[in-house]
Amino acid sequence: MNKPEHVLVVDDSPDTLEVVRRNLTSAGYSVQTVSGVEEAIRTLNSAQVDLVITDLRMPKISGMDLIRHIRENHADTEVIMITGYASVPGAVTAMQTGAQEYLAKPFTDEELLQAVQRSVQRLRLRRAASGNGTVPSAARGILGESAPMKALGRDIGKAAQSSATVLILGESGTGKELVARAVHYSSDRASAPFIPVNCGGIPDGLLESELFGARKGAFTGAHESRPGFFQAAEGGSIFLDEIAELTLAMQAVLLRVLQDKVVFMVGAREPRKVDVRILAATNKRLETMVEKGEFREDLYYRINVIPLCLPPLRERTDDIPLLIRHFANRFAKEQGKPTPEFDDRVLQMFQTYAWPGNVRELENVVQRLVLMTESDVITAPELPELMRFSVSQSGNVRRSLAQVEAEHIQTVLASVAGNKTRAAAILGIDRKTLQNRLKA
Ligand SMILES: Nc1ncnc2c1ncn2[C@@H]1O[C@H](COP(=O)(O)OP(=O)(O)OP(=O)(O)O)[C@@H](O)[C@H]1O
Ligand SMILES: [Mg+2]
Repeated sequence: MNKPEHVLVVDDSPDTLEVVRRNLTSAGYSVQTVSGVEEAIRTLNSAQVDLVITDLRMPKISGMDLIRHIRENHADTEVIMITGYASVPGAVTAMQTGAQEYLAKPFTDEELLQAVQRSVQRLRLRRAASGNGTVPSAARGILGESAPMKALGRDIGKAAQSSATVLILGESGTGKELVARAVHYSSDRASAPFIPVNCGGIPDGLLESELFGARKGAFTGAHESRPGFFQAAEGGSIFLDEIAELTLAMQAVLLRVLQDKVVFMVGAREPRKVDVRILAATNKRLETMVEKGEFREDLYYRINVIPLCLPPLRERTDDIPLLIRHFANRFAKEQGKPTPEFDDRVLQMFQTYAWPGNVRELENVVQRLVLMTESDVITAPELPELMRFSVSQSGNVRRSLAQVEAEHIQTVLASVAGNKTRAAAILGIDRKTLQNRLKA
């Protein structure tokens, strides 16, 4: 049997402490109670605490300060905040400070137990996924300490609290899928499936049956009824990646799903109820597509309930050393080598380079360097030629626009391994235009 989770309850009211202690002890948790923040911090520093349940308003130091302390020093510890009354601002503040749950007084025993179970569930999933207990909650696997990434981490936490549709926006390779997973696995749907679907990767004629399933006899070859991704994701989340690739016809179908929360299997007349949270992502500007009539405006509003924007890597160069270290450690370990150092000039070049392929490109560059190098220190000449070239050129003011454009196209192409469709998407032009520029 697993060791029971250790819960620390902080409240200045002896009555609340007693009620919570009694309830959680009989539910099998190991419970400790303290009446103030200072005592709580001492306990946190000396014992393994899995979950803190804290009152917000206390005489000396407020629960908010305790939560801040926990987020900064005990990132893996879950926090439930008890607020005085059910108020949206109170709840929002609690979440922003880093509590994962909040309980409005007065709460029932049932509400308390459910909040604790959700916290423990998140904790277990996180530990199972990471092998230890050190990743910050919502930000599972998403590295970044720059201001925009910290804000994103908080937004993910908030998004995870609801089942509203999330639209994840960002250039290629910025970590959109990672964010989708983080939202799902920090939500109370975490134990149900997360189903990623690449909308651009399934041929038009097949997408509807892949998404919603098909009844037996729906089309030639459909010998049996077959469930689709939506049925597979029941109770969990579906990640509709590259949502901008949906045809107008499929957009209409998806709109109906969002409005009515039912799906029609291909060939079926009866709707089926589904409980699936939709997470969508795109690297396109959907507003522009709406203006051009390529994306339905009503669908856009339906999916854009909680937008999460991923900043391109060049706008958060502070995160680059952290990412280098992370990927270098990982690939060195895979290779059974010691992790190489990166000399100052290299670090500087990493921070000046534009990273059109964002984190994915950086990951690939670091992988190649770790793989190829024989020495313990990586120096500038070992960097890919293209990177050295574009960094050295970026300060050169004696270039024509045409030259800059041509170089940029080459840089982008290289970052996506020559994939013209993806390069065109990053450049914001269509594939044909790209081909013409390349010919020129
Ligand atoms: N903040 C981050 N911390 C750690 N790894 C990251 C981060 N962002 C991205 N990555 C890594 O970069 C790669 C690309 O991430 P992901 O697939 O989520 O990007 P994407 O935005 O979905 O890209 P695309 O638009 O090309 O599909 C993955 O290997 C992912 O693990
Ligand atoms: Mg992706």
